[in-house]
Amino acid sequence: MSQRNSLTITDNRTGKNYEVPIENGAIKAIDLRQIRTDAADSGLTTYDPGFLNTASCQSRVTYIDGEKGILNYRGYPIEQLAEKSTFLETAYLVLYGELPNKQQLDEWQYNITHHTIIHRNIEKFIDGFHYDAHPMGMLVSTVAAMSTFYPDAQHIMDPESRTLQTYRLIAKMPTLAAFTYRHSIGMPFAYPDNDLNYTGNFLNMLFKKTELKYKPDPVLQRGLDLLFILHADHEQNCSTNAMRGIGSSHVDPYSAIAGAAAALYGPLHGGANEMVLRQLNEIGSKDKIPNIIKRVHAGEVRLMGFGHRVYKNYDPRARIIKNLAYEVFDVTGKNPLIDIALELERIALEDEYFIKKKLYPNVDFYSGLIYQAMGFPLTIFPVLFAIARTAGWIAQWIEMLQDPDQRIARPRQIYLGNGPRDYIPIDKR
Ligand code: ACO
Repeated sequence: MSQRNSLTITDNRTGKNYEVPIENGAIKAIDLRQIRTDAADSGLTTYDPGFLNTASCQSRVTYIDGEKGILNYRGYPIEQLAEKSTFLETAYLVLYGELPNKQQLDEWQYNITHHTIIHRNIEKFIDGFHYDAHPMGMLVSTVAAMSTFYPDAQHIMDPESRTLQTYRLIAKMPTLAAFTYRHSIGMPFAYPDNDLNYTGNFLNMLFKKTELKYKPDPVLQRGLDLLFILHADHEQNCSTNAMRGIGSSHVDPYSAIAGAAAALYGPLHGGANEMVLRQLNEIGSKDKIPNIIKRVHAGEVRLMGFGHRVYKNYDPRARIIKNLAYEVFDVTGKNPLIDIALELERIALEDEYFIKKKLYPNVDFYSGLIYQAMGFPLTIFPVLFAIARTAGWIAQWIEMLQDPDQRIARPRQIYLGNGPRDYIPIDKR
């Protein structure tokens, strides 16, 4: 038997054989281009809507084994990071590839802490939105607008500029997020407090009222930090793919992050935790669960917070979040929707439809319940996700810029439209 690391393809249209190399468990799609029926044929291509089985890049950031339910950032298991790390330390790891030593961590925290203020003119944009504007819409717009404040960000090949934009983005996203929330409830903006840590300061900017010094609850502060760790990166998901795709045109990172955040906004992605809560509210009580399961079977609705493109086993993040929920509820009081959620999960996990399709709770099934118990309104849920995922988006963007294999993202299509035809004047149509 041959031991060659290659694939032999026989084109039955022509009877010709081709050998294409296999590297890291993949063949290069471009190697199929040589497979033609004749000189006029532009070559064989692959058809893969939604990238079901196409790797768009090589990456060293995040590893997922969806069958086994494994998630590692830079090789470190998510369970260990969730237990032992902080969001800022994890963000450093995701961005730079290694855990920081004490001095690196101190410098990193200092730099993030000292870039949290946003320009007054950005506050004016936020003021201009309707009182009921969705915070995610405001966040997407204001991040995009930041590119006009930092024109130096267009020097994307300059590592120093990238580092500065990284500080600004990681530091200012919570400020933007908090200000959009304050705007939506008609409260004056609360400015950053450098005495607090990343999540403590975020809670301060969200919830400070007239007290001179806001004191975040340590359990809630740690809970939010942990949720941020769990959301820091998730390899080539929809929004990260948007980040890489937009970034591949060499636009500045603020514009690319605005696009990534817009992708995150959708209910099939980061908007799912908001939709989970809406669905749980709609279900209303445990006795209504069989009815929603029936509607899922009939294909009328999807169970929000269930299913994942990659995880065909329990999402490891969902397991960690489920445990966190009880710690948070000890402080905030129980979110009554948890009982419906637990029963829904129990029924779904025993239901043939869900078993057959390998649909398990994903990260968003429980995160919304915690956010709600902490006092966050539903509309800010995807914004919280965006704050954490900014670390992953930037890490993946920098990796893409430094990868000599990368080109501008420009997929091919299978054209099925009309052949050439002559223009018809309007009176003849
Ligand atoms: N409820 C009911 N049926 C589902 C669900 C669900 N939540 N998810 C998938 N299915 C079914 C589909 O109808 C499909 O059935 P079919 O083969 O008979 O057509 C099958 O399972 C496979 O689903 P796809 O949509 O092909 O799976 P895909 O990998 O494209 O989608 C996704 C993954 C978008 C997450 C999907 O499971 C979903 O819509 N879930 C609900 C939304 C959600 O929770 N999103 C958050 C994801 S996690 C995140 O982004 C952080």
